[in-house]
Amino acid sequence: MKEGIGSAHAKIILIGEHAVVYGYPALALPLLSSKVHVTLRKSDETYVSSALVEGPMHTLDETFDPIKKLVEKLLNVFNMNAVSLTIDTDIPINAGLGSSAAISSAITEAFFDYNDVSLSQETRFNYVQFSETLAHQTPSGIDAIITMSKTPIKFIKGESLKPFEIDLDGYLVVGNTGVKGKTKEAVNHIAQTINTPSTKALIDQLGVLTLNAISAINDNNLIALGNALTLAHDALTALGVSHPLLDALIKDSLSKGALGAKMTGGGLGGCAIALASNQATANAIQASWSLMSGQDAFILSLKK
Ligand code: MEV
Repeated sequence: MKEGIGSAHAKIILIGEHAVVYGYPALALPLLSSKVHVTLRKSDETYVSSALVEGPMHTLDETFDPIKKLVEKLLNVFNMNAVSLTIDTDIPINAGLGSSAAISSAITEAFFDYNDVSLSQETRFNYVQFSETLAHQTPSGIDAIITMSKTPIKFIKGESLKPFEIDLDGYLVVGNTGVKGKTKEAVNHIAQTINTPSTKALIDQLGVLTLNAISAINDNNLIALGNALTLAHDALTALGVSHPLLDALIKDSLSKGALGAKMTGGGLGGCAIALASNQATANAIQASWSLMSGQDAFILSLKK
């Protein structure tokens, strides 16, 4: 039976989340070990099977609306009546690792593959942005664009994919709090007060810290990068988008020798990252975070 195949990976925002919505740059890394694969076949009714949900698409609850609307749009474009979608993912949901954008990206690719139509980056981006806009109203586009990049990027809203080289003798520990992140609420929370001097100042500060992080990476200065990360976390906390368990993980990692640490992604839950200068420190943070949250934590090398 004919099949269409699509896949995409997770992401980690190193620095710049939230400020990126207001035009500041952000740095993101693809998380190639965490992936979603979609297999699409023609069927009598549109049906989704995955580890999380299984059933006719119209029976899925409203949290799946962005995906439902994307599938409806693609069915229309390709003049198809119904498809079955098998979604096989190991990207944790609502963890700030870009699972919704990755699923949309993989579904889009599967439709194009099934119909033997080549898919440009711009078209893929536009479809993912369509469903991301339904998911959280004013997405900057960073989650959509990183699903298409196999290397780190520097992203500015409205601009195309720009690779950004990261080649450091350091390690990033990534740990999930297990508390569901709430990107939409967090983005809306900031939007409500964006015209007040204090919120504006914090967003501006995040913008400056991202520029500091970019210089630190270019200068191979892990200490300066770590400082920028921790200060960015403080600004995100002051903006009201952190969570007590994120704050606890960050404090713990600093006490274990991290050079810096912060939440990553939309926040109000989800994941934290910590920068370590050597494997032993990274291992100690990983073990401690797993104990504290009861969730897996993992280590990424920042060497190219
Ligand atoms: C979410 O991964 C990143 C945010 O900056 C929102 C966005 O850029 O669309 C919080």
